[in-house]
Amino acid sequence: MSNSTTVPHPLASSADLVTPLPDFTSATYKDAYSRINGIVIEGEQEAHDNYQALARLLPEQAENLVQLARMEMKHKRGFQACGRNLKVEPDMDFAKRFFEPLRNNFQVARGEGKVATCLLIQAILIEAFSIAAYHIYIPVADPFARKVTEGVVKDEYLHLNYGQEWLKAHFDQVKEEIMAANKANLPLIKTMLDEVEKDAGQLQMEKESLIEDFLIGYQEALSDVGFTTRELIRMSAQGLS
Ligand SMILES: [Fe+2]
Ligand SMILES: [Fe+2]
Repeated sequence: MSNSTTVPHPLASSADLVTPLPDFTSATYKDAYSRINGIVIEGEQEAHDNYQALARLLPEQAENLVQLARMEMKHKRGFQACGRNLKVEPDMDFAKRFFEPLRNNFQVARGEGKVATCLLIQAILIEAFSIAAYHIYIPVADPFARKVTEGVVKDEYLHLNYGQEWLKAHFDQVKEEIMAANKANLPLIKTMLDEVEKDAGQLQMEKESLIEDFLIGYQEALSDVGFTTRELIRMSAQGLS
């Protein structure tokens, strides 16, 4: 019996093997998109608020941080347009609940003036998570959202880099604080991923790829900040095991 229907021809181009894009107009897609779109809109809003808060904690960096906050507002408007384009109403109540634990931890750290913790949460964890999610989303997005997301992801790299540079410059003073912040906040990312797995799957975004991309970016950033490979393995195990 021939199995030629399941084995790709050796000369087949990779384009022949790509899974077809989802049906962006189906009720199932739109239902999942209402929550995912809500999450990105709320995520961009909170990123804006967090950089504004950081600007108050670091007055000498205020100009840079306010600039980052402005970019986040632009991202938010971009993703609102993506929802309108697909005629989807974003589920903002769900999105606000989704971010609650991470938002609470940021606000506590902010109240205590813990700049390194705030930067770890917003500029490293959230940015690395967004970059991973946007990367995985781009190939399966509708053409309008793909364009918007490609523009956004470039900015998020700048934000990640900003956090990385600050933490690197203060590494000796903030190393312990970063480790504690990692321990408290990395598990929240795992919970958030679990919560969004089903909806992301409807958008053809796989949880395994999300985790992989996120962990690579997160570890690369922290390695640049100054952590050793051994420390990074321990820190990752604390969050995702
Ligand atoms: Fe953003
Ligand atoms: Fe950002």
